[in-house]
Amino acid sequence: MKIAHLSDLHFGKMISAEKLNALKEDILLHKLDLVIVTGDITNRGKIAEFQQAREFLDSLCCKYLTIPGNREISLFAPWELIIPSLAMQRHRSYFGKSDQVLYKSEEHNTVMFGLNSVSQLPSWPGSIHRQSRYWFREEVNNHKSYFKVLFLHHPIMPVLRASSFWAHQLSDASAILTICAQFGVRLILQGHKHRASVVELRIPETKSSLVISSCGAPLLDRWDSVYHVIDIDNDTIQINPREFSAGSFAGDTSYFFHSW
Ligand SMILES: [Fe+2]
Repeated sequence: MKIAHLSDLHFGKMISAEKLNALKEDILLHKLDLVIVTGDITNRGKIAEFQQAREFLDSLCCKYLTIPGNREISLFAPWELIIPSLAMQRHRSYFGKSDQVLYKSEEHNTVMFGLNSVSQLPSWPGSIHRQSRYWFREEVNNHKSYFKVLFLHHPIMPVLRASSFWAHQLSDASAILTICAQFGVRLILQGHKHRASVVELRIPETKSSLVISSCGAPLLDRWDSVYHVIDIDNDTIQINPREFSAGSFAGDTSYFFHSW
């Protein structure tokens, strides 16, 4: 199964048409089965930005899944900072579910689980609602024989080269990681830090191995203009970072991960 991991697209005035066209061209080149966007789809949570994002994702000619990020909260509606569920209504009207997303491919024996990590102030680090954690635990247990992928906005694991000032880790990362290790989730897709990295976490107690893909912000200039093309073949994961340079996205290096 071939997927693209996109994150932090920040649709709005900041993005350039050149990068957007280059991203679409590169994605279409890979003949993907699925695109997953791990939040901060819009820059300011505006309707026009949601529309722009929806048009772009609809044009990619393959199924896509999204989960919201903190940027889906509108700065022009301060009450959404206190009650983020109001902003999630906007996300749902454009992209369907904003929490407890489950997508199953019987053809590829793979299940994707999406969790909403956007939480109330002052908890900027992001957290998973308890009900969603229970749901996640139950569903990964229900899909023992499948290859399992978790996707969310706030980082479960630190991102290499990310600044410590805006730490913003997931506050309940250990609870989610424990579920992943116990029930054999193999791949985590995370966003928020605008820095790209690929790391593997090996846990001897459970003989489990977790691969964590943090993709950058492919359409922004100041950060890592990177997205990941990920190939899942049986229990092997291949990640190919695609970076924008000289007018197009490209990447010669791939990382391979095998199960324990
Ligand atoms: Fe974010």
